Amino acid sequence: YFIREKHKPLAGKKVIVTAGPTREAVDPVRFFTNRSTGKMGYAVAEAARDLGADVELISGPVAIDPPSGVTIKNVESAEDMFEAVMASYSEADIIVKTAAVADYRPKLVHDQKMKKQDSGLSLELERTRDILKTLGERKEQQFLIGFAAETNNLEMYAKRKLESKNADMIVANNVKQTGAGFGGDTNIITIFHRDGSHKEFNKMSKKEAAFHILTEAIERMGEAE
Ligand code: CTP
Ligand code: CA
Repeated sequence: YFIREKHKPLAGKKVIVTAGPTREAVDPVRFFTNRSTGKMGYAVAEAARDLGADVELISGPVAIDPPSGVTIKNVESAEDMFEAVMASYSEADIIVKTAAVADYRPKLVHDQKMKKQDSGLSLELERTRDILKTLGERKEQQFLIGFAAETNNLEMYAKRKLESKNADMIVANNVKQTGAGFGGDTNIITIFHRDGSHKEFNKMSKKEAAFHILTEAIERMGEAE
């Protein structure tokens, strides 16, 4: 029992991880998206599995294979992702919102392929739902971990996100820093906590970063119990 507790600290816990980009349709052949590859989120799902959790990975479209032993739900849009998360939210102990959710989507989705015109084109965009913020508003026992990919003012923006989304932890990285951007196998993270403290980590593999993220969460959850 002791060994299980020590090496599988997430045994009996349900962890939801969202990963990858979302796609917001313009018409049947076009969409808006972003540079997320899903690597960080997939590493978190794998690490949570290794720590003994029952893992559900809710993923936008990516080119990498999901880790074995996790339940995968594939989604496209921010709204699809929201619905998939809400379907399991009540049973979850930890939610890790690694996904790079689109902030805007076309206001009008065309049923048929849009034909080009001689003139230019402006598309009207509307806001998508902020999934993490909604989770924060409906939070019960869940420990909510958000991400913040920034290019400047990392600390200020990360702390603001912690508050505005009612998250328990924010994992921030400067995507302009070499070794911390989209698509690579490494990351340079700073973890911000609700008590105002933060912890900076050196450059490490996304898998190692994933273990540190979950370890920080486990320590904080232990304190709350
Ligand atoms: N997030 C979300 N739903 C959205 C947008 C973001 O759940 N519609 C989550 C992301 O998964 C991430 C966190 O919120 O965990 C922060 O995302 P980020 O894009 O850094 O922050 P935003 O609040 O969207 O603010 P901005 O893009 O202006 O920095
Ligand atoms: Ca955003």
